[in-house]
Amino acid sequence: MCGIIGIVAGRDVAPLLVDSLKRLEYRGYDSAGIATLDGGALARRRAEGKLVNLENHLKDQPLPGVVGIGHTRWATHGKPVERNAHPHMTKRLAVVHNGIIENFAELRTSLQADGYVFETETDTEAVAHLVTREMDRGLPPIDAVKAALPQLQGAFALAIIFEGVEGLLIGARQGPPLAIGYGDGEMYLGSDAIALAPLTDMICYLEDGDWVVVRKSGATIYDAQNNEVKRAVQKVQSQEFLVSKGNHRHFMEKEIHEQPEVIGHTLAHYLDLSTGTVRQDVAELDFSKIDRLSMSACGTAYYAAAIGKYWFEQIARLPVDIDIASEFRYREMPLSKDTLAMFVSQSGETADTLASLRYCKSQGLKIASIVNVTTSTIARESDAVFPILAGPEIGVASTKAFTSQLTVMASLAVMAAKQRGVIDDAQERALVKQLSEVPRIANQVLKLEGEIEKICRELAQVKHVLYLGRGTSFPLAMEGALKLKEISYIHAEGYAAGELKHGPIALIDDSIPVIVIAPSDRLYEKTVSNMQEVAARGGRIILISDEEGAKNASVDTMATIVMPEMAEFITPLLYALPVQMLAYYTAVFMGTDVDQPRNLAKSVTVE
Ligand code: M6R
Repeated sequence: MCGIIGIVAGRDVAPLLVDSLKRLEYRGYDSAGIATLDGGALARRRAEGKLVNLENHLKDQPLPGVVGIGHTRWATHGKPVERNAHPHMTKRLAVVHNGIIENFAELRTSLQADGYVFETETDTEAVAHLVTREMDRGLPPIDAVKAALPQLQGAFALAIIFEGVEGLLIGARQGPPLAIGYGDGEMYLGSDAIALAPLTDMICYLEDGDWVVVRKSGATIYDAQNNEVKRAVQKVQSQEFLVSKGNHRHFMEKEIHEQPEVIGHTLAHYLDLSTGTVRQDVAELDFSKIDRLSMSACGTAYYAAAIGKYWFEQIARLPVDIDIASEFRYREMPLSKDTLAMFVSQSGETADTLASLRYCKSQGLKIASIVNVTTSTIARESDAVFPILAGPEIGVASTKAFTSQLTVMASLAVMAAKQRGVIDDAQERALVKQLSEVPRIANQVLKLEGEIEKICRELAQVKHVLYLGRGTSFPLAMEGALKLKEISYIHAEGYAAGELKHGPIALIDDSIPVIVIAPSDRLYEKTVSNMQEVAARGGRIILISDEEGAKNASVDTMATIVMPEMAEFITPLLYALPVQMLAYYTAVFMGTDVDQPRNLAKSVTVE
């Protein structure tokens, strides 16, 4: 994820900015930059790659100034090149941004019509020009930001400094965290306490919709309605300086909320959105040279692979075997040399998955892996590594790693389809377009949080829950059940909706909520029949569907979560979010240890 720092001080800020950016490195980044205000004039330095490149640039061309902003960029819109690195500048201001501006294309069109010239492919540049346009219309900086913020849709944390205006830094938050740091005669903005650690331990997290005017003497905070508000300033505990939850209650909550940005970042690695194609150079692997894919994984990674199976088979016409790694490793399955063995693991260290990999290697198979930790054993022992680029996942219950694994598999399925000649250019563009919609829709889905929380108050009272789904919603049903089990300790099972009548229907009564995952796709009507079977036996249904699905459900539900419309291909990526939130809020109501549930470890390196 991108990282932000802003400083208003009485001393040169460039070295302080770079130091804070180093502390944000843990979030992952592919370029970095700073801008300062020196004698009223804005200037910036940016560099692709590691911070050492920015430092070398600053050695050659130092940047004086007592006010500044800095950024580590984790590409979402536009390639990770210097041109797209932050800060973005106009003649009036410099801005850094973390998040996704959903309506950037409309803003860009409107700003271009007014003569503003865009130099980058980023959504952030629209923010820079938008505030500039308000200033060109005669507003001073603070009023210009106030006028621009309601025009922005999406998730953002912003820090802005202004040409000719010494001592002023403005921040805004809607979605990604932004903290104000209180120093001795200096003030700061930062993505988290870690960024601000060497500067101060007195921190105040902005709430959603807040924006703040920061000067050397202090900060004035406004809420989304522009009322001046007070937010608590806290002394940060030393462990928060390691990896921080920001103003989220749990890492799991934070990681759920990071998903729009994380998925956007992963997509940017695998897709070229400017041409609507899948990047073919992400690994040396030719899917036209294999005739079968064998995927093994454990837990959530296994359910991600189970969804991937549908995509590889339907889109790329590539047959897939999926296995739970602890079973696969002892099955002594005959494997053909034309099979690609693929292993999915967040940690890259799971003992059963690693043993399965080694078995396949001993059989002479080519090995591919989809991992988060690219220095892990599984990555090191693979011929081709596909990183999921999710950043550190701290919550034991996997959330953003799951959707990032799905993002990679969806992209690879399109890549495989193209290489195998089963889709043409137009079909590739259509699928890439659908994938590119995921971060925007994910932001909308997160707004259902309040509604989902209410449903969970009741869920927290029950002893058993059933999850049903068809197609890709079937593995998602199993993932939903796993999530609920592991953090709330409520017994839950996920079934293929069509299997209900072959046994589990005997369980149905009014004490077991049945969560039905049913986007209105080509299987929807079949799932409705299964829902009717549940309703006829007094079962209480929680339906997750879209508006059309909710309208056509023809059963009374205990609750209906109405999702935005979307293409069938991307539904598992987005329906995963309410499934995660249902588990999360149920566990919160039950008061369990959400991030470190009993008996579980984040990485299972034993059999
Ligand atoms: O690191 P891995 O992806 O290999 O881990 C696999 C499972 O242990 C993991 O997904 C586990 O099921 C999670 N706790 C699920 O939330």
